[in-house]
Amino acid sequence: MASINFIKQFIIHPTQTGAIWPSSAELAQVITDAAGLAEASVIVEWGPGTGVFTEQILLKKPKDALFFAMELNPDFVRATQTRCPEAQIYHDSATETPKYLTQHHQSRCDAVICGLPWAAFDESLQDALLDTLLDILQPDARFLTFAYLQGLLLPAGRRFRKKLQSRFSHVTTTRTVWRNTPPAFVYVATK
Ligand SMILES: C[S@@+](CC[C@H](N)C(=O)[O-])C[C@H]1O[C@@H](n2cnc3c(N)ncnc32)[C@H](O)[C@@H]1O
Repeated sequence: MASINFIKQFIIHPTQTGAIWPSSAELAQVITDAAGLAEASVIVEWGPGTGVFTEQILLKKPKDALFFAMELNPDFVRATQTRCPEAQIYHDSATETPKYLTQHHQSRCDAVICGLPWAAFDESLQDALLDTLLDILQPDARFLTFAYLQGLLLPAGRRFRKKLQSRFSHVTTTRTVWRNTPPAFVYVATK
């Protein structure tokens, strides 16, 4: 069901969806394990899609931590909300995150776990999202986002990697999850 929904959404919104298949449970484990969730008190997810990362975030976050997700596609908002009824999913762009943090009486967060398709975005959207990110992360907070191996062949994928390295104090990558379709790894960037 999640996979069928993904292919349909990719056909309707190709650059916004950026994938024809949801991430695997193994990639969800890798990205959420690297996020330091046990010590986080404010956690935001960008682009939950069908909720594969959301499910793991809910399992790993402290009970009293604030958590919400930002999703632009209403069909994916519904899919994640159905899969994870206890999660708060806002139907809005990730660039609007500061507004929702303010509604929760917060201005910064400790971790952003991201599923956005950076290699499909043009440079102005990459910059707008990275500007938002640097505004909302606490010093030393972590930003985690996955990338497909094949995306490193695309100019936008290489440009995104350089932008991360120039804007964050420390950027590492996890092991590659070969059984993800397609194979992917995670960038772990510290502000
Ligand atoms: C590659 S899918 C990843 C979905 C899921 N995290 C996964 O790994 O299976 C990208 C997701 O980002 C969402 N998205 C794209 N641009 C967005 C934006 N500006 N703000 C919020 N969500 C966005 C898409 O609608 C889609 O759900």
